[in-house]
Amino acid sequence: MRDIIIIDDFSNQEIEHIFQIADDMANIISSGSPRLCNGKIMSTLFYEPSTRTRLSFESAMIRLGGNVIGFAEPGSSSVAKGETLADTARVVSEYADVIVIRHPYAGAAKVVADYSEIPVINGGDGSHQHPTQTLYDLYTINKHLGRIGELKVGLCGDLRFGRTVHSLSYALARFGSEIICIAPEDLELPEHVIQRLELKYKRKVSYAEKLDDVIGDLDVLYMTRIQKERLPEDIDYRSVASRFVINKALMSKAKKQMILLHPLPRVDEITYEIDDDQRAFYFRQSAYGVRVRMALTAIVLDVLKIPTTAGSMPSSRLVTVKKRCVNPRCVVNHESYLTQKFEVISDLPPLLACVYCGEKPVDEDSDTNV
Ligand code: CP
Repeated sequence: MRDIIIIDDFSNQEIEHIFQIADDMANIISSGSPRLCNGKIMSTLFYEPSTRTRLSFESAMIRLGGNVIGFAEPGSSSVAKGETLADTARVVSEYADVIVIRHPYAGAAKVVADYSEIPVINGGDGSHQHPTQTLYDLYTINKHLGRIGELKVGLCGDLRFGRTVHSLSYALARFGSEIICIAPEDLELPEHVIQRLELKYKRKVSYAEKLDDVIGDLDVLYMTRIQKERLPEDIDYRSVASRFVINKALMSKAKKQMILLHPLPRVDEITYEIDDDQRAFYFRQSAYGVRVRMALTAIVLDVLKIPTTAGSMPSSRLVTVKKRCVNPRCVVNHESYLTQKFEVISDLPPLLACVYCGEKPVDEDSDTNV
């Protein structure tokens, strides 16, 4: 049984096979057959707002001939009565064949996968990762630039709380692309993400203060919105909003072949005048979400297989240490039946990470508060 919780659940070769299957799915979308998932049920458990992820997964399943059940408003489910993720996972496993979950806590999708009897797909867990978004970001880049390695990719906006840029940066690093970060102070790429990029994927990131300084060098510019709903009290939204905005004047400095991506929704990071620019790919990118999610649904339901020659990523190495995760938005600090667990990211220099949220733990007797 295959879950999709983090981008490292797929090897580079497997990702390339997913692109091929997604291309085949585009033909199924236009021809309307065959019904590969006939009789199968997808359960979409959305504890946070979504337009693209929920609707494109539901569209994908319906286009594959399957059915969909679920909720988009957790207040209407038994979570409002205090039901845990573990119990929800066990129960829904008996009602459906695959679960897609979005949740505000990092690691929530892993918990559901650990307690579920059916495959689980992470539709975004807090500020942690959004692996299926990353897969269609990569698909878009590959389709229009012909590769996902050896590119210069600018990541711009809220790189601290934006989950899409975390999983995307790991994938780009694995494929050998260069990452340039452009972010407001306080919303830079977290230290634990930078350390993982450097120590696990052997890729250093670089930084630019202004888009103007780098836009002319980029092959891909990936804009993101400020994650207003995740900002801590000590960061005033007005002080970080509208800091980086792409307009016609900036686009005139970009390469003719550069592609402009955004996971959407946008707030004001890309002006509407850019929408007609041939380099504006964000609506095509979001449309590709359906074919990529069709491919992923068919793969986890085992109705389509990735060749065994495609290999897989090494599994993570867990260690027992006297440490604890102090991320207040990590699921381990909210679901009382969970125990602290850590994996080795690097032996030399040593780097550990919480298996749920990826953050670096502190010593068990440290007085750092959650
Ligand atoms: N990109 C993305 O995840 O969009 P939604 O929040 O609308 O699902």
